[in-house]
Amino acid sequence: MESFKHHFPIFENESNQALAYFDSASSAQKPKHVIEVMNRFQTSSYANVHRGLYRLSAESTTAYENARRTVANFIGTDENHIVFTRSATEAINLIANTWGTQHIKAGDIILLTEMEHHANIVPWVMLAKQAGAKVEYASLLPDGSLDMKSYEKALENNPKLVAFTHVSNVLGTINSVKDMVSQAHNAGAITVIDGSQAAPHIRLNMVDIDSDFYVFTGHKNYGPTGTGVLYGKKELLDAMPPWQGGGDMIETVAFDNITFAKAPAKFEAGTPNIVGTVGLAASIEFLNALGWGVIETHEKALSEKLEAELINFNGLTLYSRAVNKIGVFSFNLNGIHSSDVAMVLDKCNVAVRTGHHCAQPLMKALGTEHTIRASIGLSTTEDDIDQLISSLHKAQKMLG
Ligand code: ALA
Repeated sequence: MESFKHHFPIFENESNQALAYFDSASSAQKPKHVIEVMNRFQTSSYANVHRGLYRLSAESTTAYENARRTVANFIGTDENHIVFTRSATEAINLIANTWGTQHIKAGDIILLTEMEHHANIVPWVMLAKQAGAKVEYASLLPDGSLDMKSYEKALENNPKLVAFTHVSNVLGTINSVKDMVSQAHNAGAITVIDGSQAAPHIRLNMVDIDSDFYVFTGHKNYGPTGTGVLYGKKELLDAMPPWQGGGDMIETVAFDNITFAKAPAKFEAGTPNIVGTVGLAASIEFLNALGWGVIETHEKALSEKLEAELINFNGLTLYSRAVNKIGVFSFNLNGIHSSDVAMVLDKCNVAVRTGHHCAQPLMKALGTEHTIRASIGLSTTEDDIDQLISSLHKAQKMLG
């Protein structure tokens, strides 16, 4: 199997050469292309955007707005639907604090699922508290997939807003987002999808999915931290009030009256993360250059190998058992705390994430407080998987 590790300079560093990195779901390592584009941009074309009439500012503005087009193409939409944010978390908070405060009223229902990351729970619970609304949760099946019967039943209560993840950050489960959106729309709800774990692994098309809002983060997508994307249907973005006020989001400001710019500028107050956004576009160029066929085939082969190893591992409980999933695996070695295992793995040069993975309600549904999570990305190799499995055996021997 081809390895793509050579695209990631961090593994050329002497101290990381033997490292098996299994934490791409937390944050992906950065390809050379992204690092080089960001460096080149800062050393050749950087200035503030949308403000100066001089050459550098024009070049910088072009790079920033081209990045918006690159992101839009990446998810099958056009640039009028793309708002740049600091993170997926900020994008969800933006929706909660604009569309949410405008529309969610006392007695309304917000429907989530039990597999949400805290970023797709906390902003809604805060909004519900403020408005006197109620938050409900669709439950899971034992294999870690969403119980569609529970989802359909919950929709009978006519929630006003339904928010769910495209892919679980803990289990890797891929939700049937297209069906879920259509069912939510039939029930009269607006939909918000957290696509942070999906964007680097699954080809996205906003027209096909038809969600009202879709958010994802840049740093899991091989781009820099501090970048996030909010996709919104144009009529919703236009009708939403601004969230943060400041420069670049206004049309006119008088001492006693302000008119706002149109979306997406209305939601991008202040100097944006210009360099990061150019880096985010470079991460998409990196993915496009590999091509979705190659990415999906590569990740599927690695996932199948790791899944087979984990299923055959005696004394290991695997929580990620959904049929439709990406390469994110949560498990525990029976009778051994996940943190202890992670410490042994670290000594063996294997990086995994442990704990509740910012998904405490999901941990409760799984009947545990913590798991070990190994996630696959484009920097993962077959050798990494062998190293993980042999290190898990060592940990079991030492700690069991
Ligand atoms: N949301 C990131 C994760 O799942 C941080 O690890």
